[in-house]
Amino acid sequence: MINIGVLGYGYWGPNVVRNLHSLDGCHVAAVCDRSAAALKRVRHAYPDVAVTTEPSELLTSPKIDAIAVVTPVWTHFELAKAALENGKHVFVEKPFTATTQQAEELVDLGIRNNLRIMVDHTFLFSGAVRKIRHLVDEGILGRLYYYDSTRVNLGLFQHDVSVVWDLAPHDLSIMDFLIQEKPEAVIATGESHLNHVVDVAFITIYFPGNIIAHVNVNWLSPVKVRTTLIGGQKKMLVWNDLEPDEKIKVYDKGAQISNGDSRYELLVSYRSGDMWAPRVEQAEALKVELTYFLECVLNGETPLNDGVAGARVVKLLEAADRSLKARGRAVEL
Ligand SMILES: NC(=O)c1ccc[n+]([C@@H]2O[C@H](COP(=O)([O-])OP(=O)(O)OC[C@H]3O[C@@H](n4cnc5c(N)ncnc54)[C@H](O)[C@@H]3O)[C@@H](O)[C@H]2O)c1
Repeated sequence: MINIGVLGYGYWGPNVVRNLHSLDGCHVAAVCDRSAAALKRVRHAYPDVAVTTEPSELLTSPKIDAIAVVTPVWTHFELAKAALENGKHVFVEKPFTATTQQAEELVDLGIRNNLRIMVDHTFLFSGAVRKIRHLVDEGILGRLYYYDSTRVNLGLFQHDVSVVWDLAPHDLSIMDFLIQEKPEAVIATGESHLNHVVDVAFITIYFPGNIIAHVNVNWLSPVKVRTTLIGGQKKMLVWNDLEPDEKIKVYDKGAQISNGDSRYELLVSYRSGDMWAPRVEQAEALKVELTYFLECVLNGETPLNDGVAGARVVKLLEAADRSLKARGRAVEL
C-alpha cells in the first residue's frame, strides 16, 4: 500500500484525488490546500481523508510515501524539492517547473535520493496518443514530415501563467513522445490582449531530418478546437480529440515529385487511397497514468514521463518565451 499526500485541491486536484482514491494499492492519506473552502470540498467528498492547510505536515510525515503536487506552476519547485528531500516520490503537475535549472535540480535530487519523479503529461496516457505512437513505431505513417496541433478555446484565463505555459505543455509533451528527436530551434510569436500575459501564441519547432512541428494555443477563440494533423511519407492522420468516436482518422494520402524530361517540368503524382479510423482505448488517461505511477514507485522503474521528460518540455517553453519576446527570433537549442 502506497500512502499519498496531495498538495492542491483547486481545479485539477479533485481529478487527481478522485483517481487515486479509486485505485487499489494506494491510500490518499491527506490533502493539503491553502484555501479553507477547498478543504471543505475535500471533507465533503472524502470524509475519511485528513486535511490541512500546512504543506509541511504532508511533506515531513513519516506515514506518507509519495506526494502529488497539484498547485500553481510557481510553487512546483519548492514543494517537490521539499518532498524529495524528505524521501518522498513525487507526481508533479505540468509544466514540471518554472525554469530548466529548477527541473535539473529536481532530477539530480531524485537520482541522489533514489526516488521516482513523474510529471503529469496526461495526454501520453490517452488512448489516442498511445495509438498514434503505435502507428509511428510500426512505421505505418512512414518518415514523419510534420506535427501541427491546434488547442484553442475561450479561456480559462490564468493570472500567473501565459497560454504558452498553460496549454502548450500538452502539445509539447505529445510532440516529444511521438517525434522522439532532439529539437534544434524554436520560433514563437504571440500577443497579450486582456491583461499582461500572452493569450494567443504560435510556436514552431525545428527537428533534425526536416521534421517541423507547429503548436497554436489561444484563450481567445470563439470555439473549442483540439485537432492535430500529423503528416508522414506513407500516411497522414487527423486526430480530433473532441470526437466521441473515431478520434483518429488515418489517410492513405500523399504526393511524390519527380523531374520530367525537361528540367523545368515537375511531375507530381498524388496518392489518394483509403481512410480508416483505428480503435482508440477509452480509459481515463489520468487513471492509467496514476496506476503507472504506483507501479513505478513499487518496482523502482523510471517513468517515461520522468523529470528528464518534464525538463525537456520546460526547456522548450523557456525558448518559446525568449523567441516571443523578440517577436519570433529563432532560438537555437
Ligand atoms: N494535466 C492536466 O491536464 C492539467 C489540467 C489543469 C491544470 N493542470 C495543472 O495543475 C496545476 C494546478 O492547476 P489548477 O488549474 O488546479 O490551479 P488552481 O489555482 O485551480 O488550484 C491550485 C490550488 O492550489 C492551492 N495552493 C496554492 N499554493 C499552495 C501551497 N503552497 N500549498 C498547498 N496548496 C496550495 C490553491 O489554494 C488552489 O486551491 C497547474 O500546474 C496546472 O498546470 C494540469
